[in-house]
Amino acid sequence: MSENPGMTRRQLLGIGGTLALTAATGLSTAAALSRRPAATGAELRSAIPLPPAFRTPLPLPPVLKPVSTSGGVDRYEVTQREVKMEILPGVRTPMWTYEGTFPGPTIEARRGRPITVTHRNELPVPTVVHLHGGRNTPTSDGYPADLVLPEGWPNPADGTSAMHQMADMSGTDGMSAMSGPSGMAGMRDPRAVVTRLTRDYTFATDQRSTMLWYHDHRMDFTAPAIWRGLAGLHFVRDDAEDALGLPAGAREVPLMIADRAFDADGKLKYPALDPSLRDRPGVREPYLAGVLGDVILVNGAPWPVHEVDAARYRLRILNASNARHYELEAVTDDGRRLDLVQIGADQGLLATPVTHRSLPIAPAERYDLIVDFTDVPVGGRVRIRNRLGSGRTRDVMAFRIARKAADDSRIPPVLARDMPSWHRSDAARVREFAFRAGRMHGRHGWLIGGRPFDPARTDVTVNLGDVEVWRLIADVHHPVHLHLVGFQVLSRGGRQPLAHDAGLKDTIALRPGESAEIITRFDGYRGRYLFHCHNAEHEDMGMMANLEIG
Ligand code: C2O
Ligand code: CU
Ligand code: CU
Repeated sequence: MSENPGMTRRQLLGIGGTLALTAATGLSTAAALSRRPAATGAELRSAIPLPPAFRTPLPLPPVLKPVSTSGGVDRYEVTQREVKMEILPGVRTPMWTYEGTFPGPTIEARRGRPITVTHRNELPVPTVVHLHGGRNTPTSDGYPADLVLPEGWPNPADGTSAMHQMADMSGTDGMSAMSGPSGMAGMRDPRAVVTRLTRDYTFATDQRSTMLWYHDHRMDFTAPAIWRGLAGLHFVRDDAEDALGLPAGAREVPLMIADRAFDADGKLKYPALDPSLRDRPGVREPYLAGVLGDVILVNGAPWPVHEVDAARYRLRILNASNARHYELEAVTDDGRRLDLVQIGADQGLLATPVTHRSLPIAPAERYDLIVDFTDVPVGGRVRIRNRLGSGRTRDVMAFRIARKAADDSRIPPVLARDMPSWHRSDAARVREFAFRAGRMHGRHGWLIGGRPFDPARTDVTVNLGDVEVWRLIADVHHPVHLHLVGFQVLSRGGRQPLAHDAGLKDTIALRPGESAEIITRFDGYRGRYLFHCHNAEHEDMGMMANLEIG
């Protein structure tokens, strides 16, 4: 066996049982937390020799050039296509890409200047593009049923082959978000807007400066699509941020961290029930809690190394993994831990910097960090390590200090003055949502409030402009993400938020057995949005809900 299933269903249910017992007997939180597993998911083992760490240079994703900047709008074009890429040295790996690269090309946007991205789908399956963390209209938010069909794919609305498949499926185990061909998403969702071959996504860019990311969001198939490479970075910048004097240019480095596993022939390994990703969603039994890889990629390179000056650097970090959580630290050759000075969270700059020794990051979370290499000797190395990993997944990447250099960057004590101040007493409503394993149409599923996702059902209706408090409760690790709005963490485990909860977030990492409260104002646009778990396998297996802003 080359695979190492980490958590079986029995173990999963076991955790649920433990939690139930905790609640019933009133065991202390500390006792419950001491049993907290480090990971949720099972690790795939690569079947190909893996390269040594810190040899492959860190790639920097290309910045996409607009095809036009006239009329006050920047226009971009992105073609989604399959290419063979060299991820492991000397090995060709077929990937699904934006513009032939992984990560996809970076989009650089300026606050207040709208952009339109025309995506063209030349992949063999439907796609959907979502700008994660973007404040955008519902029509450009990448709703999972708003498919862009490739050439030749039957239109769900014509009732051609997708209809037949649906009839077949309903004869066996009924119709569900889990069991049908993806074409059904459009059929069961009367509001879906399906296009053929291309779709324009328009982003107002009316939001705080930060690093967003775009990724596939196709109903039932998001996890394998991201795994195959459909993810890229998208920056929003503004004058206030530029004026801060933070490290910039070559001293600002985007880092997209993602784990993967490889087959003997160089293909990506993934335990899909239907490897063509056409009809049948889902993963094989040992991986229902999430798919972990044994290779850590940063910007698409395995355990890379990056040459730097002995100076301050700004690291823009995204965890683009499907299910893996990391706890990052920066360690010198002599075992010294460098400070991680956090200046921003998912939704932009913090009010003031927060200094960490290590920093947990869940799928879809981002951090904006300053790391100072000034005192590291030239020729020395700083490794970025993952305290939650074991064996080779303990390493992430390294920086090699190449030379002394002048540095006129600063970390101002006040970074942002535009932080919202929402108070519990402002809340029009308090809601509670449990994120738990459960049964869904006779199978294992992941549920919010006891229900699996149904695009045709409105789960939550909020009034535009209302402040609400949401209490989120988890059985295992669930990184919970809200579309459209940023939020603040009000409490965690009934106590003060943790240091890394600072700032405006769009994803909060709930740990096993944990509850947290978040507060936000639902403003921006009316319409249909989503909230969901960003463990991508959980998301595909039902852990998503509709949020109607009216
Ligand atoms: Cu990053 Cu709804 O997703
Ligand atoms: Cu999102
Ligand atoms: Cu989850």
